Amino acid sequence: MRSHYCGGINESHIDQDVTLCGWVHRRRDHGGVIFLDLRDRDGMSQVVFDPDTPESFGLAEKVRSEFVIQITGRVRRRPAGTENANMPTGQVEVLGTAMTILNAAATPPFPLDEHVDVGEDVRLKYRFIDLRRPEMLNRLRFRSRVTSYIRNFLDRNEFMDVETPILTRATPEGARDYLVPSRTQEGSFFALPQSPQLFKQLLMVSGIDRYYQIAKCFRDEDLRADRQPEFTQIDIEASFVDEGTLMDLTESMIRELFQDVLKVALPAFPKMPYSEAMQRYGSDKPDLRICLELIDVADLVAAVDFKVFAGPAKDPKGRVAALRVPKGGELSRKQIDDYTKFVGIYGAKGLAYIKVNDLSKGVEGLQSPIIKFLGDEVALAIIERVAAEDGDLVFFGADKTTVVNEALGALRIKVGHDLNMLTAEWAPLWVVDFPMFEETSEGGLHAIHHPFTAPSCTPEELAASPETALSRAYDMVLNGTELGGGSIRIHDESMQQTVFRILGIGTDEARAKFGFLLDALKFGCPPHGGLAFGLDRLVMLMTGASSIRDVIAFPKTQSATCLMTQAPGTVDEKQLRELHIRLRKPAPASAAPVSEQDDLTKPGS
Ligand code: AMO
Ligand code: AMP
Repeated sequence: MRSHYCGGINESHIDQDVTLCGWVHRRRDHGGVIFLDLRDRDGMSQVVFDPDTPESFGLAEKVRSEFVIQITGRVRRRPAGTENANMPTGQVEVLGTAMTILNAAATPPFPLDEHVDVGEDVRLKYRFIDLRRPEMLNRLRFRSRVTSYIRNFLDRNEFMDVETPILTRATPEGARDYLVPSRTQEGSFFALPQSPQLFKQLLMVSGIDRYYQIAKCFRDEDLRADRQPEFTQIDIEASFVDEGTLMDLTESMIRELFQDVLKVALPAFPKMPYSEAMQRYGSDKPDLRICLELIDVADLVAAVDFKVFAGPAKDPKGRVAALRVPKGGELSRKQIDDYTKFVGIYGAKGLAYIKVNDLSKGVEGLQSPIIKFLGDEVALAIIERVAAEDGDLVFFGADKTTVVNEALGALRIKVGHDLNMLTAEWAPLWVVDFPMFEETSEGGLHAIHHPFTAPSCTPEELAASPETALSRAYDMVLNGTELGGGSIRIHDESMQQTVFRILGIGTDEARAKFGFLLDALKFGCPPHGGLAFGLDRLVMLMTGASSIRDVIAFPKTQSATCLMTQAPGTVDEKQLRELHIRLRKPAPASAAPVSEQDDLTKPGS
């Protein structure tokens, strides 16, 4: 139907006849001459109709925004002074000689011009129109280039693309499962995979040796800007490898991807132990573009009368840390109050601070509501510890370690952005030496990565002190986002049983849930390991999008609904009966449309 894409016309086509198809982006009637900006996925061309071709001129008068048309005409240079340097096709235009209206269009719910601010709920409801916008189209095109590069890289490195089931059993990655009722097995349910973790391990037992899959994963968890209930992993597993080989290979993959697609040479990826990341940045995914650091001062304040500090300083599970903000002395009272509210979101009960006005005056040169509680000596010792200078401000967090890490960790990112302290565009790193387990609120243990991750000690050492055991897991972090994570796996049945026992999974339960894995470990399982990247997050970072919703064609809202298809939806009684399901409370006859349950403007959405 066409000879060229609209965006592909340029000076080399002058005097050629072309046929273009696309959408009418804009129509301008310049008294006797009609200009149409015709748009397709490649870009836009200006088409001119004049009354010399009365039939097509008449049609051009009729078309409206988003009509689908086909035009034929001759490419010519735009008259001097009317060129558009902002458009790749801006030096030329097509003098139309024929036109067909392929389809009319109702007035679109929002104009496609990129500058118009449209609410995200409207964009999601009419996603098929939203995706016509060049900004969105370009993100999808970019995503396709990324997946194609990754496939190519992995194919070159002899990884085999194998598909794994979507209807399966629970695959524990720490979120809730999406369940699918079985019609043929009354009372039984499939779970959608949270990741292909167990299947890729079984493929190693089968001798596939190097596996990858661009895999859909499903997790019913609280959603945020970088989390979707349905997302995509670049999932990788290999046999007879150690963590060094896997980290080198996947680091090369990301490095070459950035070089190829973005022309960016990523800096070196330092390897940082988890404990150091928590200590210095309060986070296991530190944003190293910001050079602010948390500094422990518990030893200096353990003996002061100020209980807010002394309590956590003496508590083995507590932490007292300082965050020096260079030139932070300029922050106003209001800004400090706002930061105090901000850390409150993370459970901090306050945000003490010291402003350093003039160190040559000793403690007189410090300004703070807490010096009277700390005493002069302690205050000066803290200033010395954090190496604060005139004009700086020092914030403090004192609480349970988890609260201080979360609150000051988040504050460091916020202050770093607010005060323009980013020192680099890209800051990747590996976080390594994770603990195997963390304590749950009920006092039990929970696997930090997943229960199939190998410890870096013997089964005996693991059983003797699980709380302090480290794992062979590694996360790749970029600009404060966890891009991917993986580990060397347990390939020994007794080690796997030990981990299940520590997690409180008894022999019977382990057999019922993971019998197939335990069996596989008995039948010649090679040493193996792998990793999975979040594709959506990777593309989000590479395109500078602020949410992964912007790099997914049809994403879900924060309450895990689709505003376009109105999924999830109710089903009729007959279907429920076939699935052997009776609802506890029948769905209300007029359930609120999903759009009313969502508020995409909420913070963190
Ligand atoms: P993990 O749970 O760390 O590991 O997931 C790997 C990566 O997937 C991305 N990711 C998400 N992206 C969008 N929305 C979500 N809800 C979401 N959850 C996770 C993140 C994360 O780093 N089976 C293991 C991998 C392995 O051990 O090989 C796993 O799934 O970028
Ligand atoms: P208060 O004694 O509650 O008036 O607190 C004195 C100062 O300590 C105020 O600046 C509070 O913001 C701050 N503060 C209170 N609790 C904490 C805490 N847990 N961590 C850090 N600062 C705190």
